[in-house]
Amino acid sequence: MRGRFITLEGGEGAGKTTCLQRVQARLAAAGVRCLVTREPGGTPLGERIRGLLLDPAWHGMAPDCELLLMFAARAEHLDKVIRPALARGDWVLCDRFTDATYAYQGAGRGLPLEHIATLETLVQAGLQPDLTLLLDVPVATGLARAQGRSDPDRFEQEDRAFQERVRAAYLERAAACPDRFRVIDAGQPLPQVCTELDRVLDAYLAAQSRALES
Ligand SMILES: Nc1ncnc2c1ncn2[C@@H]1O[C@H](COP(=O)(O)OP(=O)(O)O)[C@@H](O)[C@H]1O
Ligand SMILES: [Mg+2]
Repeated sequence: MRGRFITLEGGEGAGKTTCLQRVQARLAAAGVRCLVTREPGGTPLGERIRGLLLDPAWHGMAPDCELLLMFAARAEHLDKVIRPALARGDWVLCDRFTDATYAYQGAGRGLPLEHIATLETLVQAGLQPDLTLLLDVPVATGLARAQGRSDPDRFEQEDRAFQERVRAAYLERAAACPDRFRVIDAGQPLPQVCTELDRVLDAYLAAQSRALES
């Protein structure tokens, strides 16, 4: 059986990278073999593209260039990592995926959503995450957390209004696809976020094993 494809989404400093380990540990405890990866990136070539995308030196990059680089990295990631892993039955846990493109390049940069949808169809050919964990955090809280990191990247440098559009777009997408999304209140202290994540994952795992039995 093909593995499950789980994505973590959310704005800057929401806690995606922090929670990834927690999610992986929970899945491992349930006996699931799970590959952890990220976007943009996840392959040697994709990580080079990530470097271009995040580098503040490319401030003012044409939005279409940004969009195409995102999908270029994604095409490589799907081909070399995600599809092979799912095909051999492993689960894939990915820090950001195409919902981020809709939020950042769509709502953030203002690119037409139908352009994104066209590239999504081209590159993904129908492949969608099975479960998306949206870590939702107020923009100010997330940015304050992210400021603890050195050298803000090209997206962290965007203004407050950009980050608010990203957050709103994520919530809108979650509301439009309630079967795929679980929204986690990531403004809480980390232990509470982890408890909520565990609850969501346990329910998902239980539903998966019921589906296998029936
Ligand atoms: N719920 C939380 N409460 C307080 N700090 C948090 C929480 N989640 C993450 N952090 C901290 O915020 C910073 C950014 O977290 P990170 O996981 O890198 O966010 P993201 O990957 O979503 O940008 C890190 O220093 C992390 O330890
Ligand atoms: Mg991160």
